[in-house]
Amino acid sequence: MKRIYLMICLACACTAMIAQGKKDTPVYKDANRPVEERVNDLLKRMTLEEKVMQLNQYTLGRNDNVNNVGEAVKNIPAELGSVIYFSYDPKLRNEVQRKAMEESRLGIPLIYGYDVIHGFRTVYPIPLAQACSWNPELVQQASAVAAQEARMSGVDWTFSPMIDVARDGRWGRVAEGYGEDPHTNAVFAVASVKGYQGDNMASDKNVAACLKHFVGYGASEGGRDYVFTEISRQTLWDTYMQPYIEGVKAGAATLMSCFNDISGTPGTANPYILREVLKGKWGHDGFVVSDWGAIEQLRPQGVAADKKEAALKAFTAGVEMDMMNNCYNKHLGELVSEGLVSMEMLDDAVRRVLRVKFRLGLFERPYTPESTEKERFYLAESLRVAEQLAEESIVLLKNENNILPLQEAKDIAVVGPMGDTRWHLLGSWAAHGDSERIVPIASALKEEFEGKASVTFAKGCDFDGEDSSGFEEALQAARKADVVVVALGEKKNWSGENASRSTIALPDIQLQLLKEISKTGKPIVLVLSSGRPIELGKVEASCKAIVQMWQPGISGAKPIAGVLSGRVNPSGKLAITYPYASGQIPIYYNQRKSARPHQGKYQDIPNTPLYEFGHGLSYTSFEYGKLKASASSVSKDGRVTVEVPVTNTGDRDGLETVHWFITDPVASISRPVKELKHFEKKLIRKGETVVFRFEITPMKDIAFLNHNGDKILEKGKVYISVKDERVELDIE
Ligand code: BGC
Repeated sequence: MKRIYLMICLACACTAMIAQGKKDTPVYKDANRPVEERVNDLLKRMTLEEKVMQLNQYTLGRNDNVNNVGEAVKNIPAELGSVIYFSYDPKLRNEVQRKAMEESRLGIPLIYGYDVIHGFRTVYPIPLAQACSWNPELVQQASAVAAQEARMSGVDWTFSPMIDVARDGRWGRVAEGYGEDPHTNAVFAVASVKGYQGDNMASDKNVAACLKHFVGYGASEGGRDYVFTEISRQTLWDTYMQPYIEGVKAGAATLMSCFNDISGTPGTANPYILREVLKGKWGHDGFVVSDWGAIEQLRPQGVAADKKEAALKAFTAGVEMDMMNNCYNKHLGELVSEGLVSMEMLDDAVRRVLRVKFRLGLFERPYTPESTEKERFYLAESLRVAEQLAEESIVLLKNENNILPLQEAKDIAVVGPMGDTRWHLLGSWAAHGDSERIVPIASALKEEFEGKASVTFAKGCDFDGEDSSGFEEALQAARKADVVVVALGEKKNWSGENASRSTIALPDIQLQLLKEISKTGKPIVLVLSSGRPIELGKVEASCKAIVQMWQPGISGAKPIAGVLSGRVNPSGKLAITYPYASGQIPIYYNQRKSARPHQGKYQDIPNTPLYEFGHGLSYTSFEYGKLKASASSVSKDGRVTVEVPVTNTGDRDGLETVHWFITDPVASISRPVKELKHFEKKLIRKGETVVFRFEITPMKDIAFLNHNGDKILEKGKVYISVKDERVELDIE
């Protein structure tokens, strides 16, 4: 009896203790409470200094020297909001995180960001190449692979995707986005956000995404980086905003403000874009991080006299986190005390940062499990995705008399500086990619053709410079061969940030090599690897085939070897126009209409590009049937379906992408000559016919945006087209 009585007493005491404990647990630490309640509770407890510190981002982990790790931990204040994490070691993250959790008064975890642009360790092709795959599902999978590797390595947040519409190949950052078209950028923005964030950012395999660089960075004048951009309100909405609209709708947790001055108001001090549109009109409740140094750069841009004014302008415009400017940490507190920034505005900013931290589950799981590299990287499925994406992004630009695939050749010569490089195939922003794993072009071809053809390699020359002493060896190899694969292109650092070029032509030495090889009379297959389209107007005729392999990442040259042998049937199509010459830039398919379409031509070069947007060949042939619409007119809220049958008339299976365009011939605001509105990629087996469909909802697919971003649907005729076929539709 006594024992039972004792046990009851004990149980009661325990229950009371638990209840008391619960009562003492602050709301913000209670995982069962809604995020908003937790955020508000935490905010109430924070001092001005603590609030300000949440809005700053420093760097961590550049120094790999183990002796300095202690220093790195010491340099990060326990109250800091975020770091850019250059390491992939969860240990260092955890040490610094422990400091934030245990040494700061409130135990607020840091958020670790990093540029995971096209993969973390398993590097996949550059984004421009990914767009040429026209396979958003695959890009979503690749982004999920990147997220898993990053999160398991201590990164919670990627500064990706870059969805800046870019129409100037001289701008090095064309490599980082999805090409020249707003709709394409929008579709891939959604795919990558979904891949990074999954259904639940708190999962230990997902990261927060960051749409960048908001907005208009791709309009950099003359392809020069960081410069002024001239963007009218109409073009802002027509062209540059569209991908952001969709990316925000897809739930992107954060955005990065841009470096560029937008017609007089830099993006980082632009209340219209950041406050009125993003936070107001679109209701985005995550936060905006400045680009690296972009707040401080408001001084050289001429809108702030000093760092304090820069902090004021950026903050009141709507930039919540200061990336490496030392503006907010130094001046924001002061600005609040002086009444120039209201406490309400400060609270709103902190609330946004905390919200993302809660959504990432950082308060519950601040530390990263210390897994082995083998558990995180190069998983079989991750490598498969990287290889498939590299295969599908390759674009066969030319294939005279079906010289490709190489089936008869017994002797293949590979010449050119791209032939034996691993490093340059990684592309810019290659995160923790390890080029040692990459198989170069010549080696991949040797493996691919083993037992079928001999493959010899002679470099011929370097990527640039004037040294032609290797030409002779290359010519000898070419003379002995049945076919010459000339592997040319760009070094890794010729594209990406701060990598502008005055021309998109190859350096002279590479062109000379090509010219000398062509004098041998041997058929040339030109293989290009680059981060931008290349000017080929003058050399195109000397090549029987041209293949753009872009920068494929970790899969290296195995995919291109597969294309040359025929193991892989190419299916990539251009997401960016290939100009005939650099002088045509800017040239893109969706320009506004000319007053005299048949005049205004260049006198010295053709007006048309060498290869247009959407161009890309296959080893099989596809025949398009007649377009058929389910109705000839449609009301504002109605729907209409247009379909087209496509038959594989060749002798092998192939993947085909159908691009659907609309043309609005007469509108109150002039519309582009045509606009991509839908695309789909499907496998068509040889001899089979597959029907492709475009389900049109007028408000989504036909309406356009005015200079305020309001949707306008006008009555009248529009055309729906696929290749050269079109049907007419009446909007009632
Ligand atoms: C780039 C951003 C990048 C950031 C952090 C900047 O220089 O413009 O795209 O995310 O650095 O590395």
